[in-house]
Amino acid sequence: MNYEVVLPAAGSGKRMGAGKNKLFLQLLNKPILIHTLEVFQNDPHCTGIWLAVKPEERDYIQSLISQYEITKVKGLPAGGEERQHSVHSCLKEMDEVDIVLVHDAARPFVTQQVIDKLVQIAHEKGAAIAGVKAKDTMKKVEDGVIVETVDRDNLWAIQTPQAFRFDLLYEAEDVAEKVGFLGTDEAMLVERLGHQVYIVESTYDNVKITTKEDLLLGEMILKQREI
Ligand code: C5P
Repeated sequence: MNYEVVLPAAGSGKRMGAGKNKLFLQLLNKPILIHTLEVFQNDPHCTGIWLAVKPEERDYIQSLISQYEITKVKGLPAGGEERQHSVHSCLKEMDEVDIVLVHDAARPFVTQQVIDKLVQIAHEKGAAIAGVKAKDTMKKVEDGVIVETVDRDNLWAIQTPQAFRFDLLYEAEDVAEKVGFLGTDEAMLVERLGHQVYIVESTYDNVKITTKEDLLLGEMILKQREI
């Protein structure tokens, strides 16, 4: 089953403190952004990549795309104030496809197996997202005090990719924009429409590179995969 992917890449990466877009930082031998792009470049079922970018970074990103021979990029629309706006600006430029994946450009370690499963379930059910079971004991805290220990058996930490039938995500983004709702992931927007979203068990190493410590972790993950 073919799909196209939207990669929001227009963040400022303040928590990294690198003074530039964290996606341009090197992870072993190449920029984080290229590691992520190569996942989809190498997946034969991915027929198009859409990157939401900051306009002032577009030329540089274009040059990286050429240098690393990424051929599937179909467009680089301007990102928005929030990640959700960046995703929306890509959807608005895309032609309708069956399945669209949304994936953080800062998550270079997603596995092919997880992508395949997400696409399959999105095709069958409409919406599927990657996540991992909570490992730690989870507590709800208010004003520094525990108010509840939450049953961890039902708790999942949610990642990307998140996969949807295109028309469903398009409608969800459209409605959210009209009512001014800002979600922390795409699934939230689809949940608001009353549509069921399915979980696909992912891997704990599908981390989002956010802080300097994540760069070290990322290098370890890459080295371990090379063995
Ligand atoms: O900042 P954070 O790591 O949560 O961002 C997740 C992804 O969303 C990153 O790949 C980042 O570049 C992207 N993003 C975006 N537009 C924004 C904020 C974040 O495309 N306004």
